[in-house]
Amino acid sequence: MITSQNIGKLLENIKNSKKTESLFFQITKSVIKKTTKNKRYNFSLIKNNIETDFKLSLLYKSILDILIPIIREKKKLTIAQLGQSIDGRIALNNGNSHYINHKKGIHYLHCLRSISDAIIVGSNTIKKDNPQLTTRKIKGSNPRRIIIDGSLSLTNKYKIFNDGYENIIFTKSKKNKILNNSTIIRLDKNDFTKKIIYQINKLGYKYVLIEGGSKTISEFINNKYIDLLQFIIAPIVIGSGINSLNLKEIKSLNKALRPKFSYNILEKELVVNLFLNR
Ligand SMILES: NC(=O)c1ccc[n+]([C@@H]2O[C@H](COP(=O)([O-])OP(=O)(O)OC[C@H]3O[C@@H](n4cnc5c(N)ncnc54)[C@H](OP(=O)(O)O)[C@@H]3O)[C@@H](O)[C@H]2O)c1
Repeated sequence: MITSQNIGKLLENIKNSKKTESLFFQITKSVIKKTTKNKRYNFSLIKNNIETDFKLSLLYKSILDILIPIIREKKKLTIAQLGQSIDGRIALNNGNSHYINHKKGIHYLHCLRSISDAIIVGSNTIKKDNPQLTTRKIKGSNPRRIIIDGSLSLTNKYKIFNDGYENIIFTKSKKNKILNNSTIIRLDKNDFTKKIIYQINKLGYKYVLIEGGSKTISEFINNKYIDLLQFIIAPIVIGSGINSLNLKEIKSLNKALRPKFSYNILEKELVVNLFLNR
């Protein structure tokens, strides 16, 4: 069976296998072993079709259905992900975003983090949510945390500076500041986003996840850095608050982004995948 204890390992195995190869696994509660078609297996992946000898819970089936095509498709991918209400809000005006989406969605988010080599958030998300940005709900590997803190206003009181894992901070500030477990990379304020993208590309990550908030993701979209923009849309109406995106204004609808797309369902919420760079 697939559980929170082994889904991370399964995803890691699939991520590190050849993209077109058929895959066969022996899966027990705590062990995931890759095998061949001739040996005993109880989970297989032929193209992207999952077959199992055991019952897969709806939650893990949905998670695998969303993530397998992503990790089988490309060797390098930049993913931006936002949980929003049906009217496009990712938080209230006071910054509160807990919880717009179904509480089980956190398992999906931690799986998505576990396939990512780096995770990026803006400084407001750290201030408002004080997240850990780890994969603690499942047994998965933690991505390197990258925080964009233009004015270097964060302080050591936030969780990411107190759990022993490392952070990379990009800033345009010249302030002399020490943040625990963090490498501060100072970049010129002109074309700051382009310079961040250049630095991240230099670090050579395969999968980069941008988890918000709105300003950070919008800047990266404006700079054509996002390959896959994923919205998890909860069937709730908030009516006011922070918009999921604030892109450059367009004057004609034929300038709107109309990318290829796919969709999935996760715990009765709609997951929309927009492939911006296809
Ligand atoms: N529902 C969801 O999925 C979700 C996910 C994440 C966050 N959120 C919510 O979103 C809210 C925060 O979003 P937000 O849009 O206000 O802020 P944000 O994107 O988290 O952070 C924005 C700040 O980060 C810095 N920054 C990030 N990218 C930059 C760039 N390319 N160039 C220059 N500076 C950059 C700037 O810092 P300086 O101002 O210091 O220059 C900027 O003000 C919170 O309320 C959080 O709860 C929701």
